[in-house]
Parts: sequence; structure tokens; C-alpha cells
Amino acid sequence: MKIWTVANQKGGVGKTTTTVSLGGLLAQQGKQVLLIDTDPHASLSYYFGVDVDGLTSSVYDIFINKATIDADTVLNCLSPTKVDGLYVLPATMGLATLDRQMGSEPGMGLILKKALATVKHRFDVALIDCPPVLGVLMVNALAACDKVIVPVQTEFLALKGLDRMMKTLTIMGRSLDKQFDTLIVPTMFDRRTNAAIKAQAKLMTDYKNDVWQGMIPVDTRFRDASLAQLPASIAFPRTRGVHAYQQLLKALGVRSSND
Ligand SMILES: Nc1ncnc2c1ncn2[C@@H]1O[C@H](COP(=O)(O)OP(=O)(O)OP(=O)(O)O)[C@@H](O)[C@H]1O
Ligand SMILES: [Mg+2]
Repeated sequence: MKIWTVANQKGGVGKTTTTVSLGGLLAQQGKQVLLIDTDPHASLSYYFGVDVDGLTSSVYDIFINKATIDADTVLNCLSPTKVDGLYVLPATMGLATLDRQMGSEPGMGLILKKALATVKHRFDVALIDCPPVLGVLMVNALAACDKVIVPVQTEFLALKGLDRMMKTLTIMGRSLDKQFDTLIVPTMFDRRTNAAIKAQAKLMTDYKNDVWQGMIPVDTRFRDASLAQLPASIAFPRTRGVHAYQQLLKALGVRSSND
């Protein structure tokens, strides 16, 4: 099972949209895909219509039952989606209390990694959607993954946020003793604006080794797809935004059988 984490401390840059879009494309290729919502705001879970308030088990339970975690504990937490092969491990508000409750306990950063190891033969890919906060949940998501996808909005303030995120990755890499395989993904690119073109050019020079050469355009279909509770690739397969995520998947080393 590949494990990819979608992270950026800056909010509203397209993390959840990237998680859903890549997950949808992978499921359409026939893969078994697990999407993990580690954001207490539960946007990814809401996206697929999961009744978060009525849930009896969620990512939170994995942390609470950390001493006895096994595949059944993880599988019991899953919610299906309208898409074959695509499952969500949903978030609940309780996640917001984790930092205070057990943020400083030893081994707390490795719980998600251990939990995912128990289901590694059940799924082909796991995608972890992070909250825009550096805390115990993002630490777990980074410790668990073999690739980090960093969506960044193509505008000046978002680039500042990216500097912080890349510093976080350096510090976290040192403490976890791992070198992150990172791909920065320019998002919400509006080719009609000078600001977006300048931001894109700056990304390419400042982070040339880590930045994807393509970009995700602004596409209102992403919002429409979330209303339909479907990944954009299923709701609106022929849009520019979906085409861009297909290209991104290739850059991440996954090719479909039609290529
Ligand atoms: N390429 C795009 N074009 C147009 N709208 C987009 C695009 N990507 C995302 N959006 C919209 O922008 C908003 C924020 O996107 P998203 O929720 O994916 O960001 P996020 O980084 O997960 O936010 P948060 O930090 O709050 O979790 C959503 O309403 C989403 O539909
Ligand atoms: Mg989000």
C-alpha cells in the first residue's frame, strides 16, 4: 500500500480537493483506496455525506484504542462512498482534543502509521488529508507516509505559507529520521491574472526541485462535484481540473491502463 499525505499549514489551498480528486481517479482505475480525514472540521467526511455527528467510530477511536489497534478496529471505522473501491476513514470533532489529551505522550506520533500497517494488504493506496495546523495529527500523517503532496495556491500570501510548511518538513524529517519525498502542487491557478502567473514563476524558481511542473487550474466544477458528493473525475470527467489531476497522478508515478 502506498501512503500519501496531503499537507499544508495554510488553510484553503486545495488539500481536501486534491485528496478527493486523486482518490477518485485511483478508484476509477480499479484500485482499492482509503481516504483518511485527520481534520477535526471533517470536510473530507462531509464531502462524501458521512453523518459525522451520528458516527460511533472514527479516526479518533484509533487514537483512543492505540494500545490494542488491529485491522478490525480500523476496518470498523470505515464509511463507504458512492464510488466502488473508495472508502473514508472519517474524522469527528473529538480529534480537536487530541493535542491537549495526549499530545505529549511518548510514541503518540506513530499511531496512524501503526494503524495503517494493519490494513496494508487491504488497500492499494491510502491518502491522508491533513488539517491546516501543525499538531499531533499532522505529525502522525507525516510519520505514516512515503510521499508528501503540498498543494499551494498560486498567490503571494500562500507562498509565504509554503515557506513555513517546507521548514516544518525539514524539522520533522530530522526528528523522524526520514527524508520526505515531497511534491509541491500549484493549485487554483487563474491564468487570466498577473498575480497567479507571477506566483507560479516564483514557485518554479524558489522550489524548482520539489515543484510539479504542471498546475491545477481554477475550476468551479470542483465545488459542483462536492455538492454531488462525488469526486470531480466522476461527476464531471471532461473538465480541465480533472485533466490536470490526471497529469498529477502520472507525475506521482501512477499510470492508468489507457496511457
Ligand atoms: N482548483 C480549484 N478551483 C476552484 N475551486 C477550488 C479548487 N480547488 C479547491 N477549490 C475550492 O476551494 C475551497 C477550499 O478548498 P479545499 O477545501 O480543498 O482546501 P483545504 O486546503 O482542504 O482547506 P482547509 O485548510 O480549510 O482544510 C473549496 O470550496 C473548494 O471547492
Ligand atoms: Mg481541508
